[in-house]
Amino acid sequence: DENETVSITVVGASGDLAKKKIFPALFALYYEDCLPKHFTVFGYARSKMTDAELRTMVSRTLTCRIDKRENCNEKMEQFLARCFYHSGQYDSEDNFTELDKKLNEHEGGRVSNRLFYLSIPPNIFINVVKCASRSASSSNGWTRVIVEKPFGRDSESSAALTRGLKEYLVEDQIFRIDHYLGKELVENLSVLRFSNLIFEPLWSRQYIRNVQFIFSEDFGTEGRGGYFDSYGIIRDIMQNHLLQILALFAMETPVSLDAEDIRNEKVKVLRSMKPLQLDNVVIGQYKSHTRGGVKYPAYTDDETVPKDSLTPTFAAAALFIDNARWDGVPFLMKAGKALHTRRAEIRVQFRHVPGNLYNRSLGMDLDRATNELVIRVQPDEAIYLKINNKVPGLGMRLDRSNLNLHYAARYSKEIPDAYERLLLDAIEGERRLFIRSDELDAAWSLFTPLLKELEEKKTIPEYYPYGSRGPVGAHYLAARYNVRWGDIN
Ligand code: BG6
Repeated sequence: DENETVSITVVGASGDLAKKKIFPALFALYYEDCLPKHFTVFGYARSKMTDAELRTMVSRTLTCRIDKRENCNEKMEQFLARCFYHSGQYDSEDNFTELDKKLNEHEGGRVSNRLFYLSIPPNIFINVVKCASRSASSSNGWTRVIVEKPFGRDSESSAALTRGLKEYLVEDQIFRIDHYLGKELVENLSVLRFSNLIFEPLWSRQYIRNVQFIFSEDFGTEGRGGYFDSYGIIRDIMQNHLLQILALFAMETPVSLDAEDIRNEKVKVLRSMKPLQLDNVVIGQYKSHTRGGVKYPAYTDDETVPKDSLTPTFAAAALFIDNARWDGVPFLMKAGKALHTRRAEIRVQFRHVPGNLYNRSLGMDLDRATNELVIRVQPDEAIYLKINNKVPGLGMRLDRSNLNLHYAARYSKEIPDAYERLLLDAIEGERRLFIRSDELDAAWSLFTPLLKELEEKKTIPEYYPYGSRGPVGAHYLAARYNVRWGDIN
């Protein structure tokens, strides 16, 4: 709309997330012509910086990844010209009032919509929201605030954060980001399930024997140990990224694709789950390992991590959903840092074909011959289905083959970064991919008792070498439910 402006203020503009993800995502949206005609980007942080210095900083991380169109540099210049900087304290109403003045000047009397992206530690969320809502309040359009996890450390601190935010904002203004929901293959999960007759009817305990959500990184907490040590992998990855995917995977069919309808179903499935039990969880921590003459550090070698830290850098867990659809089906999660590979995937293992005629021809153990649907979220996005197939030739020998949808081979367009989709949704007021406060409560309820018990009992993690496949305990845990991790085969 000609008469509207959108100002996007990145609070914590000199931080890593802002530099690596937020500014590049905004540029990609600009490049794709997705941003409104009148928009301004403001960086806000404590350090002193001029507009020109901010532009130089931002320009270092912008890439023309979408395609190699010749006008990319020109577009970059145009984008950078819309970026400004305001230096201020996070708890100063005066500094936010100055920002407000600047925003006003840029808005030039048009309807002013304002998006604040809080790329800052959660202990200062509320201060910023308070100052911004009191001082930067001359907007006559919408005001929305994007917040990044961690949303607290447990049910209580999360509830306190929600109460604090709601003193200044209503729920509809709060956009809690879980960037995994912005990933292409996570967005596709519902399409795959609900729009394909060969999947939708199979999506239950009747045909599925277990589901696995696997996250691994081949690097440690390098440089982030300070943050990581007070959270650990369960809070960093499981309680949010993996649980969100699980909720989308397992929810009942929503009434429609509306944000509220989808989030209602996600909350329902989360509330149908039992809180995690200590004996259904394995935790690990990486230790140093020398490979090919290179010594990889232990987690506790990080200078910002206490030497006696018990914080898990790996965890595996078995969860259950107490409803008619999923009764008795193990949902397994596994997440770890400093493992042998970087990958995120969903694995759906189907049951046996009853009375399979070909049992004897399989030439392999029956347990391994069931169908498996793999959704590789990253890297090298793919969806493939493992089927049994006859090996061509005169005999009757079967083997396992993949029906394979490999994104790079099928689609020529590059996949957008999760932050692009999420920022665009926030600007457009689409809440489907953001976490509602009741969802967040339900997610914390599942993990809080376990997290407290681990900390109270000072549970010792199982140590695993940097670059390995993680603690062997994860296999015993799966085996207890007659499950084999699909990523091991
Ligand atoms: C973040 C975690 O939420 O997700 C990090 O805090 C993790 O520890 C990151 O590395 C992984 O995101 P991605 O998109 O690179 O898989």
